[in-house]
Amino acid sequence: MDTKPDRDEVAETFAEISRSQPLSLRTSREITVAVMGAGSRGQTYTEYGKIFPGTLRVVAVADIMKSRRDMMGRRWKIPYALRFGDFHEMLEAGRKGRLADVLIVSLPDHLHYEAAMKAMLQGYDMLLEKPMARTERECRALLARQHKTGVMVAVGHVLRYSPYFRAMKSALDKGLAGEIVSIQHQEPVQWAHMAHSFVRGNWHNSKASTPMIIAKSCHDMDIMRWLAGRRCARVSAEGGVALFRRENRPSGAPVRCTDGCPHEAKCPYSALNIYLRQRRHLYVFDLPRDCAPGRILAKLRTTDYGRCVYDMDNDQPDHIVATLLFEGGATATFSLDAFTPWGGRRTRIMGTMGYIEGDGTTFTLYRFDTGKSYAWSFRPADEGNYKDSGHGGGDLQLIRDFLEAVDTRDFGKLSSSFDASVESHVMGFACERSRLSGQKIVLPD
Ligand SMILES: NC(=O)c1ccc[n+]([C@@H]2O[C@H](COP(=O)([O-])OP(=O)(O)OC[C@H]3O[C@@H](n4cnc5c(N)ncnc54)[C@H](O)[C@@H]3O)[C@@H](O)[C@H]2O)c1
Repeated sequence: MDTKPDRDEVAETFAEISRSQPLSLRTSREITVAVMGAGSRGQTYTEYGKIFPGTLRVVAVADIMKSRRDMMGRRWKIPYALRFGDFHEMLEAGRKGRLADVLIVSLPDHLHYEAAMKAMLQGYDMLLEKPMARTERECRALLARQHKTGVMVAVGHVLRYSPYFRAMKSALDKGLAGEIVSIQHQEPVQWAHMAHSFVRGNWHNSKASTPMIIAKSCHDMDIMRWLAGRRCARVSAEGGVALFRRENRPSGAPVRCTDGCPHEAKCPYSALNIYLRQRRHLYVFDLPRDCAPGRILAKLRTTDYGRCVYDMDNDQPDHIVATLLFEGGATATFSLDAFTPWGGRRTRIMGTMGYIEGDGTTFTLYRFDTGKSYAWSFRPADEGNYKDSGHGGGDLQLIRDFLEAVDTRDFGKLSSSFDASVESHVMGFACERSRLSGQKIVLPD
């Protein structure tokens, strides 16, 4: 007698959640975009309109760097009258009427709050880069204004939009791991990235930008809250600056690595090593990887990127651990670690029926009832290569979903509501208060 093999329902559900999401989009019209800040993020998001023509068109740009605003201006044939310097000029021009359907705010951290507060009053739906603001109070003020004006605000929590985290979240929502009991989530920063961004670069000082746990880890607060599916009730955190301190400066080290430092050859954090030999992070200088060494040296002699890592006014912790308690009792431990060979994320989820472990591109679900395991790994989408898009495909997927939400006026197309984004920022600020005070922090409802 013929017998059908038993159906493996977990495998079927797993296959269903593993289908790649479309990256392309057909909008009912071309959505016009004004960009504040034509740097790395502004360029990344708007490239979607070049990959999928007819969806998005940049019609106005503001950037204090002429080279960048003209680069975007040329790429999108923006008339000179709509190429602005400071973002206030763009806001001023918008007083008589919006310059575009939507606004992308990809300015440095300290300008997000003012730009978003004012742009909301002009009625712009917007994609607002994270961190949305520099204090909890400002985040709440933004939320109040968003509720009042009714505009749509998508925050650049790109990890939520990556196929990897989307599949992990779907697996949890389908109950494949049972009830979540605990989460371990690691954010490995990568040693050279730490030195580049958080010791020498834009985010080296928490007062001038935002605390590390907001600047770097507001994504992770958001991801843990989202995966847990519950409100976070209490947090505590520890951590500090272990290495990049003045007292660790080797004797005889000059102010700049380019000034004949006797330790240069053996120092992994040497600017010559990172920028000149390894050719990392050259986009901050708007230089291509294959440019002449003299052009890089000129930047290292004149910008903070050439300075000794032990002689900066940095205060961003190179290690943080935090514990989070969610409503209902589930817990998460979070660790940010600067000294790793790789970046990305590592996540383990302990559920009552199964265990999930992932490294940022691949994750495995182990079922306790059958002993079987099921693997998910990144596959490029059919109509575009997600690997070409940053954050595991999350960058382009976010702008895609944002455009769809604007086009259909269905804010539910966004993975994250603005309320949820504010909540995860508040979690981060609470962790920072805990780290500095040594207290556990209870989060308000
Ligand atoms: N979502 C993410 O994963 C992610 C990743 C990286 C950066 N970010 C955030 O995106 C934002 C932009 O980062 P970036 O890497 O693109 O930085 P960037 O320095 O490359 O770009 C910022 C641009 O803003 C311009 N600018 C500065 N002041 C201005 C002003 N007053 N008016 C007009 N333009 C002005 C600068 O000239 C620069 O071109 C930051 O807040 C950063 O934290 C988010």
